[in-house]
Amino acid sequence: MSLTAEQLFAVKGLVIIITGAASGLGLAISQTMAANGADVILVDRNEKELRRVSEEIIPGAEVAPVDVADSDAIRRIVDGVVARKGRLDVMFANAGISGGAGIRSPQGRIENVDLAAWSEVLAINQTGAFATLQAAARHMKAQRSGRIVVTASVGGLRGATATAYAYAAAKAAVVNLVRQAALELATFDVKVNAIAPGFFRTGLGGGRLLDETHTAPLEAIVPMRRLGMPHEIAGVSLLLASPAASYITGSIFTVDGGITAA
Ligand SMILES: NC(=O)c1ccc[n+]([C@@H]2O[C@H](COP(=O)([O-])OP(=O)(O)OC[C@H]3O[C@@H](n4cnc5c(N)ncnc54)[C@H](O)[C@@H]3O)[C@@H](O)[C@H]2O)c1
Repeated sequence: MSLTAEQLFAVKGLVIIITGAASGLGLAISQTMAANGADVILVDRNEKELRRVSEEIIPGAEVAPVDVADSDAIRRIVDGVVARKGRLDVMFANAGISGGAGIRSPQGRIENVDLAAWSEVLAINQTGAFATLQAAARHMKAQRSGRIVVTASVGGLRGATATAYAYAAAKAAVVNLVRQAALELATFDVKVNAIAPGFFRTGLGGGRLLDETHTAPLEAIVPMRRLGMPHEIAGVSLLLASPAASYITGSIFTVDGGITAA
């Protein structure tokens, strides 16, 4: 069977939910899916930005202002989408927050790790990601099809001085959650994969990744000597949502300018 690129990467008409869709990588993924004809539902806790996106950037996109740390709320949103549309084809569990300072900064050192901040990062980046995966998997298992794509991080694949403890722990957790879910759901034709970005210029961490004084030392860590731009996540997101990934599950895709090659 030989397919054209258009057939291989087709997402037209698919019902796709993206969390953390109002900014950065989630917005880039949402734009990619919408530009290719998917029926997108944008989830984010930043209601104002979410509405701006659906008015100015992806006109007419359905929005759901929800905090993924609220597992009941995310489940209600997913159940509502399935009730209205009859199915859910792809879930991008992408919402996440920064863990703050890395271990080289005084605030990031082990003796200074604040356990309240630690808990917030785990509540969103780990439990929130799992609740999103769980809410989607319930329906996908029943319909015997679907794709789940979790945004992990290279910070969850190995130790790194730029990474905070909580962030490293939560992202490592989601990497293995993806593998666990891939195993359970494989025979239900539900594929579960992760994207592990390196450093991207997004709003993560309150704008630090847009600030040259903060990004210059990060660029020095990257073999390509630059940060990624949000649109550079588009290709792998389209791959994982499309027929091209029909035999891919339990995989972690690094998109990092070469960081993990070192
Ligand atoms: N930017 C990077 O360098 C980088 C690197 C590795 C991984 N990541 C991961 O990529 C994902 C997207 O981050 P980004 O870089 O685009 O950052 P971003 O801050 O630009 O976008 C994140 C979006 O998620 C939303 N969000 C945060 N917490 C939420 C919650 N509890 N419920 C619902 N929405 C929530 C925010 O409002 C924001 O719109 C995150 O999981 C992040 O950890 C980013």
